[in-house]
Amino acid sequence: MNKGFKLVTFNKLSDDRGNLIALEVKDEIPFDVKRVYYIYGANGDCIRGKHAHKILKQLMVCMSGSCSFLLDNGTDREVVLLNKPNQGIYIDSLVWRELSNFSKDCVVVVFASEHYDRSDYILDYEDFLRETKKNDS
Ligand code: TYD
Repeated sequence: MNKGFKLVTFNKLSDDRGNLIALEVKDEIPFDVKRVYYIYGANGDCIRGKHAHKILKQLMVCMSGSCSFLLDNGTDREVVLLNKPNQGIYIDSLVWRELSNFSKDCVVVVFASEHYDRSDYILDYEDFLRETKKNDS
């Protein structure tokens, strides 16, 4: 994951009853999960996120519906659409993210490597760029 973010497709366990996906820590989730949260009923016009984290790593899965992720590591910037429950995005520390274009039925589940800690947030994009430059030198 040298860009700091990666779209991944999970193995579906499907039979005539439907589909099941298992996410195991160390296999599909490359960190110990300390917190799970989810976003639903997001206003289609809103932008969520708009921050990066100093330490936190996350795996985000759009369990229902769709939404767009703008991901920026200070050098590369990509927009990724999540619209399948068998896909997820790993987001490492020091990646700026903006979530938008939420469908009405969108449910995003987030698996996080740390407990909630507001001091881990970088809320200003210029501060974020400065942090990424520090890590380069
Ligand atoms: P916020 O950081 O604005 O969400 P987003 O990253 O989607 O833009 O979080 C919304 C509110 O929820 C804010 O008051 C902080 C709180 N919150 C928690 O209490 N625990 C958590 O794990 C998270 C992610 C947010």
